[in-house]
Amino acid sequence: MSSLDSALIAIERACGSGSVIRDPSLLEGYAHDESEAEPCMPEAVVRATSTADVSEVMKAAYEHEVPVTPRGGGSGRVGGAIPVPGGIVLALEKMNEVRGIDKRELTTRVQPGLILGDLKRITEEELLFYPPDPNSLDSCAIGGNIAANAGGPRAFKYGVTREYVMGMDVVLADGTILKLGRETKKGVTGYDLTALMVGSEGTLGIVTEATLRLIPKPESTVTAMACFSSLEEVAPVVSTLLARGQLPACIELLDEQAIGIVRPEAGLTIPEETKAMLLIELDGEETALETELERLGNILFDLDALEVLVAQSSSERERLWASRRELSHSLKRQAKNKLAEDVVVPRTKMAELLSYCAQLSEQHQLLMPTYGHAGDGNLHVNFLWNDPDEKVQVDQAIEALFQRTIDLHGTLSGEHGIGILKAPYLPMEQPPALIALQEKIKDVFDPKHILNPGKIFPADAKRFHGAC
Ligand code: LAC
Ligand code: ZN
Repeated sequence: MSSLDSALIAIERACGSGSVIRDPSLLEGYAHDESEAEPCMPEAVVRATSTADVSEVMKAAYEHEVPVTPRGGGSGRVGGAIPVPGGIVLALEKMNEVRGIDKRELTTRVQPGLILGDLKRITEEELLFYPPDPNSLDSCAIGGNIAANAGGPRAFKYGVTREYVMGMDVVLADGTILKLGRETKKGVTGYDLTALMVGSEGTLGIVTEATLRLIPKPESTVTAMACFSSLEEVAPVVSTLLARGQLPACIELLDEQAIGIVRPEAGLTIPEETKAMLLIELDGEETALETELERLGNILFDLDALEVLVAQSSSERERLWASRRELSHSLKRQAKNKLAEDVVVPRTKMAELLSYCAQLSEQHQLLMPTYGHAGDGNLHVNFLWNDPDEKVQVDQAIEALFQRTIDLHGTLSGEHGIGILKAPYLPMEQPPALIALQEKIKDVFDPKHILNPGKIFPADAKRFHGAC
């Protein structure tokens, strides 16, 4: 009997009949994520229902050296949830409960398969707020958010997932169950392994339950859309707003091509001559917001905005946001191929990066619609192409974009992670000694390299996924 079969028999015995899926038509859905990374069919999918199940899966996988790829909502953008040949997927979708909300401590206890949008709805009914809001919030799961340290528009004011994860139950590669972190606001005992686990892309352990920090739900929110006649005009807006004491919940940027895509869906009428747009949201006390909005409008007009439009109702606001949230998918429909980057530069360098993108688009004759989280200097630069011959230009332009990002003291990924797709570029940003140190950390947590292999590290991505 093969070691895979032995492992699966042990798993089914421990987790119950029906926990192991081998039907190829069902496996297909677990072979890919939402990125352009090459899919890979798993040998089996195990649907876990508890921490104990996850532990049993890992014990069997460890003993028989079977690679395991944990999976939440499968909405990742860099191939982080794609299994490796001969490996299995550990699906956490059934572990999707809110285990409790503590209104006095302002915390919630959640399982990793919980869909983010559900957590948001449930906590908001209690007048509480979990701020991280990646745009895939209706399909992404908390476990994946933790694995990728997800951000989203509101990271500008509220920070990213890591700032809200206080503690977790985690299953290690050999099946050991550990509690990491704390239930208290403060805590500096030992190394901060919770922080290490957040953003580790499922390569160090599997989070099976997490304690998340909540904040009181802002009383009211207003969404404004500021239209500009050039991309250059947008660049000083973020710094000017901050310098004048404004801290919006988010400042989202759309370039001309991205505007073209949201225009029919946005609800509000975007002036024809608009070449750049900011979606700015203010939140706080209802009475204060009126004054804040007026002040915001004045600053934007001072900075030569063509128009500032305000969503007048919650349905208008929702429609505007829906068009923004769909952007990534809408862009995918514009061409046969799309690669989406996720670069970040210090916000004062954003203008420079934007003009470099325009230069690259011209030089390589490529469609490069760009949008993103301007408040954080985090740009999703997209490369669209139809003809396979254009791929050479795309690759050159991406490498040039990364080099300029690094030269501007930026980083290659703000919120999507490295996964398979960005692994080949890691050495552009990090020196060999830093990569080697991280590989040693991986070895300590996962000596047999069975936990989501082939992600983050270039050598692993090449070995397991043929990425080069
Ligand atoms: C967004 C995703 C792609 O901001 O991060 O739409
Ligand atoms: Zn984003």
